[in-house]
Amino acid sequence: MKNIVILISGGGSNMAAIVRTAQREDWAQRHGAQVAAVISNKGTAGGLVFAKEQGIDTEVLDHKEFASREDFDAALAGVIDRYDTPQAPVLVVLAGFMRILTPGFVERYAGRLVNIHPSLLPAFPGLHTHQRAIDAGCKFAGVTVHQVTAELDHGPILAQAVVPVLLDDTADTLAARVLTQEHLIYPKAIAGLL
Ligand code: GAR
Repeated sequence: MKNIVILISGGGSNMAAIVRTAQREDWAQRHGAQVAAVISNKGTAGGLVFAKEQGIDTEVLDHKEFASREDFDAALAGVIDRYDTPQAPVLVVLAGFMRILTPGFVERYAGRLVNIHPSLLPAFPGLHTHQRAIDAGCKFAGVTVHQVTAELDHGPILAQAVVPVLLDDTADTLAARVLTQEHLIYPKAIAGLL
C-alpha cells in the first residue's frame, strides 16, 4: 500500500477534502493508496481532531522546539519515513503547511512532494495572496497545485482553478471562493499522481 502523509498547520480543510475523497473513491482499491498520517507543526491545528476521528495516525512536531530549520526538517523526515518503503515511496502532501522547507528536505522527496497555493502561480507566491490580487486589480484569482522545488511556491504546475474577483470582494470573501475550488482540485490532482 502506498502511503500518503499530509502536513498541515491549521484547520486542515484541504486535508479533510483529500481524506473524504480517498474514502468516497476508494483509493485503497483504485490506487493502492491511503492517507496514512497527518503531521502538524502546531499542536492546536484543528485538522488533527478530524484526522484522529478518521483513525489516521497524527503527530505534532513543534518547530519552536528545534534549534534550526535543518533540525526540524530532519525530525519531520524521520516521522515521514516511517511510512516510506522502497516498493511504495511515500507521497508527501503539503496542505496549508506554513513552513519553508530546506533544500535538503525538498531534494529527499523530489517528485513526490506536492503543495497547494492560493494564487494562480507564478503570480503571488508567498503570503496574503488574496489581498495582493485585489490590490493589483486582478479580475481573476485562483489556486495552484504544484510539485515542490527548492524555491518557495515554484515548481511544475499540476492543476489550477480560476475564480472571478468580484467588485466588493474582501480578502476573506475571495479566500472562501478560492478554498471551495481548492477542495475540488487538490484531491483530483493527487489521484492523478497516484
Ligand atoms: C489554504 O488556502 C492553502 O491554499 C493555503 O493555506 C490554506 C490552508 O487551509 N496554503 C498556503 O498559503 C501555502 N503557501 P486549510 O488548512 O483549511 O487546508
